[in-house]
This record gives sequence, C-alpha cells and structure tokens, in this order.
Amino acid sequence: MALLDRAIVRVLPAVPRGLVRRLSARYIAGPTLDDAARVVRQLNAQGKLATIDVLGEEIHDAAAAGDIALAYHGVFARIDDDRLDANVSIKLTALGLQLDERLCRMHVEGLVRDARERGNFVRIDMEDSSTTDATLRLYHELRTAGHDNVGVVLQARLRRTLADATGLRNVRLCKGIYLEPSTIAYQDAGEIRASFRETLTMLLDQGSYVGVATHDEALIQDALRQVRERGLTANRYEFQMLLGVRPERADELVGAGQRVRIYVPFGTHWYEYSLRRLQENPAIAGYVAADTVRRVRRR
Ligand code: FDA
Repeated sequence: MALLDRAIVRVLPAVPRGLVRRLSARYIAGPTLDDAARVVRQLNAQGKLATIDVLGEEIHDAAAAGDIALAYHGVFARIDDDRLDANVSIKLTALGLQLDERLCRMHVEGLVRDARERGNFVRIDMEDSSTTDATLRLYHELRTAGHDNVGVVLQARLRRTLADATGLRNVRLCKGIYLEPSTIAYQDAGEIRASFRETLTMLLDQGSYVGVATHDEALIQDALRQVRERGLTANRYEFQMLLGVRPERADELVGAGQRVRIYVPFGTHWYEYSLRRLQENPAIAGYVAADTVRRVRRR
C-alpha cells in the first residue's frame, strides 16, 4: 500500500460518521431487507447474480448472534418469495465465533440446512487472521458432515493461503482486506497478485469451484486466460465483485457471457464495512480532503 493510502487509512476513523455514510452509500443496498431485495432485483435484471450480506460483525452477546442468524433465515425466505437469483455471505464473528465456537457452528449449520432445503448456498466470508483457523475448521467439518452447499474464502494476502487451498471444493478467492503483519502476510501489491494467480491455478487444477473476487484488471485478465486455456465453462467458476465497485466492468463481463455475482450488503451496522471500502477507494483521499476544506471554510 502506498504511503498516502496508509495515511488515509489511519485518519479514516476520525472522519465524521455522516461523511463516511455519504461516501459509502454506493457500497451498501440500504438499511432494510427491502432495500437488498430491490437492489438484487435490479442486478438480476442486468444478468448478474448476487450474494447478500447482513451487516454486523464482532457482536458482543449470544442474543445478537441469534438475531443475525434469524435475519439470514429471513433473507432465504425473501429470496424464495421474490424468486431472486442470490445466495448469502456470512461472517462467523457476527454469528458468535468469538463468544462460543459451538454456538457459532449451530447457527451456521442451521443456515446451511435452511439453504439446502431451498436449493441455496452459504458462503463463509474470511475475516482477520485471528479467525482463519476456526473458519477453515468449520468449513471442513460441514463438508465432512455432507453439506456440499457451503463454501469458504481464501485471501491471497496471507502467506499460508496456497497451503490452505488444498482440498477445498468451493472457494471465493480475493486479495484480503485486513491489514496483517509481514510475518504472515505479503505487503507488496506484486506479491499479493502473484499469490492470487498461483492460488487460482492450484484451485482450478484441483477441480474446485472458484469465485474470482477482484476488480483488479490484471487479475481479471489472468483469470480469463486461465479458464480459457483449460476450456472451463461457467459451472466451474464465476467472477465476483462488490456492489458499487467497477459496475461497468461487471456489465462487460456479463456481455461477454461470463457468470458475475455481486456482493450486496444491507443493514444498520454499516460503519465497519464502509471504512473498509473507503480505505480501498483510490479517490478517497481527494474526497476526504475536499470535505475537510469545506468544513474548515464554513467555520
Ligand atoms: P484493488 O484493491 O487493487 O482494486 C482494483 C481496482 O478496483 C482499483 O484500482 C479501483 O479502480 C477499484 N476499486 C477497488 N476497491 C474499490 C473501492 N472500494 N471503491 C472504488 N474503487 C475500488 N476480503 C476479505 O478479506 N474477506 C472476504 O471474505 C472478502 N469477500 C469479498 C467478496 C467479494 C465479492 C469481493 C469482490 C471482495 C471481497 N473481499 C474480501 C475484499 C477483497 O479482499 C479486496 O479487499 C477487494 O476486493 C479489493 O481488492 P481488488 O482485488 O479489487 O484489488
């Protein structure tokens, strides 16, 4: 990450919440399930699939984890009622991972069963490195128990990722948003890209279904080359992008016959997700500076 970017990441928490909310509106469907359903309907009409995320992470009590699980069951029901083409993405910390791993597992298994009965699918997002072992453990336990409608996420940033990829059947591959120390994670953009490419090769070679989750044109081109060279069709991979990021590129991919899924977050706990998206927006330094100047002038 460039020096300027690092500085922006450091000051982001000091940026007023109102400004964070305004700048990040494009990344979030809205506060309610109705908002998510509306956005997914629009995406489906454009030929894109969706994965719905109920915002909320690092909850502090079991009741809150139960609420998030309930909200996801509501999402599955809504997907069916509205005939939406969407699955869900969950965060284990939102389902109680840091309170009680068994409680978390119970919620996830409940969601995977609900999804199975509806012919749907659960993707387990990957959070910071303190959760990697538990997340992969839960994924493996569920697959071993016969649940084949669950997938996980790998982060190319982590040095361990290539080793972790072995044997995974359904993977979303991304760079990884959480900043991790150099002892466990690549820091250089070129190294992260190389790790992404190498892990993608390994996943495709071992027959995994892969969600290629990136907006990085070099990696999109590499993925297109790799699937073309192997003669793979859309039942083996899909592209994935975040709501509000490079939508015109997603349209081009759909136009070229590619399967594209958009990550659609909704809910009232928008702050942490918004900060992560802003830290990756190349234009953010300009927005924040312009707003600060405006506010100083108003005083
Ligand atoms: P990079 O950040 O280099 O972006 C490439 C280009 O895309 C930029 O130059 C810019 O043009 C555009 N861009 C990217 N982000 C932008 C933004 N916020 N605003 C405006 N433009 C932007 N991470 C994780 O740790 N665990 C997870 O479970 C997931 N899940 C996930 C799902 C999906 C569907 C996606 C696409 C991504 C994730 N991620 C994730 C996030 C991922 O790890 C990574 O942080 C972001 O995708 C950004 O990395 P890129 O590969 O897009 O490259």
